[in-house]
Amino acid sequence: METIRAFIAVDIGEEIRTALGKVQRILQRAHADVKWVKPENIHLTLAFLGNVSIDKIRPLETALDLACQSQAPFSIHVAGTETFGKPRHPRIIWAGITESPALAELQQQTVEALHSVDIEFDARPFSPHLTLGRVKSPKHITALLDALEPEKDSAFGSVEIAEALLIKSALKPAGAKYTVLHRVALS
Ligand code: 2AM
Repeated sequence: METIRAFIAVDIGEEIRTALGKVQRILQRAHADVKWVKPENIHLTLAFLGNVSIDKIRPLETALDLACQSQAPFSIHVAGTETFGKPRHPRIIWAGITESPALAELQQQTVEALHSVDIEFDARPFSPHLTLGRVKSPKHITALLDALEPEKDSAFGSVEIAEALLIKSALKPAGAKYTVLHRVALS
């Protein structure tokens, strides 16, 4: 069975990516052992599917189009930096999204579309975040936490979300390569 590694996400736009790239450069000065996500690869994931049979891709596209057609475009605001993991030993450094009922609704519609075509996915509760970096070891972690402190409440901008994207992820030695398979318009 041929499969594709895929996820559903929204694009955060050039302006926010640039702002997040700037904060990454500030944090990199701590010289901690972090694999930083390339700014062009930063996106807001709604659902991670893992490997999906290619036979299910077309039905999924149709289900997503149907599920999202009644949702209007909306804006999200990107602000703040936080971590997953233990406070003194974080695993993930991420930027936050200000609470958005419309975003939660879009994620819920996505989940329903996935159920309707019997695709399994990572069904942990939705915790919207933009991963900036993944911590690989405790090296210079205190310096990284110190660098994060002044960025805790930084604002990174707002963006209108007018579509969701079905994205293929190819894992390569140089990092994941993402290709948009389908655009789901909100209207
Ligand atoms: P993350 O940024 O929190 O790691 C592509 O890998 C996207 O899917 C990333 O945004 C990633 O979120 C998300 N994702 C969620 N669960 C994942 C998993 N189990 N493996 C890989 N990526 C996952």
